[in-house]
Amino acid sequence: MEKREQLYEGKAKKVYATDDENLVIVSYKDDATAFDGLKKGTITGKGVVNNKMSNRIMQLLEKNGVPTHFVQELSDRDTLVKKVKIVPLEVIIRNISAGSFAKRFGVEEGIPFAEPTIEFSYKNDELHDPLMNAYHAVALGVATWEEIDTIKAMAFKINSVMKEFFLSIGVKLVDFKLEFGKTADGEIVLADEISPDTCRFWDAKTNEKLDKDRFRRDLGNVEDAYAEMMRRVFG
Ligand code: TMP
Ligand code: ASP
Repeated sequence: MEKREQLYEGKAKKVYATDDENLVIVSYKDDATAFDGLKKGTITGKGVVNNKMSNRIMQLLEKNGVPTHFVQELSDRDTLVKKVKIVPLEVIIRNISAGSFAKRFGVEEGIPFAEPTIEFSYKNDELHDPLMNAYHAVALGVATWEEIDTIKAMAFKINSVMKEFFLSIGVKLVDFKLEFGKTADGEIVLADEISPDTCRFWDAKTNEKLDKDRFRRDLGNVEDAYAEMMRRVFG
């Protein structure tokens, strides 16, 4: 399958049309942003890591009964996926306190939860992705109640599959962000990516951060962290 015209360029990926109207090619860049695009940089090799890791995880999820947009890896940076309409909700699952949760509730990072939490935010950089509950999403026509229920069930299932997988490679899955899309025939599937850009990964023994927080917080060794996650996932 070959790339036709570019349909869209996001902060970390480009999307191209193909000869099949139901399929597009995503191409992963090394560009990194944080704080809704305010902080910009490059993480050399990130596009390759995110493409390959995301594809590996999506295939694992498919095997566990979770429908995803994944179709076929085409190269180091390019993947063929189902064309979807993205539901403009960022779905965040947390297993351990960190990031905006710790800040919002005035708690330290690293508190494990007895049960995972879920939250939605409205995918809109200009508004800084405001927190949104299910009633808000339905009121604004972002999703139906049925779609919200489907998304919630899929998100918790994804969490259990991923938590177990990452623990088996010595990584705590602290939290992560998911995006869902609707295919031409109306099916809700996992879309976007699953990578160190979209998950918090802590080494299970040392709690060393192995994700984009190294870039967000200027912790150094950013490329090393992505490479280490790649090494463990494909170990
Ligand atoms: P948060 O603690 O900043 O709300 O982030 C929660 C998770 O979501 C974390 O794993 C990083 C991920 N995330 C994104 O993928 N995109 C974003 O724009 C933000 C703010 C967080
Ligand atoms: N990628 C997001 C942005 O630039 C932020 C983040 O991942 O922290 O808005």
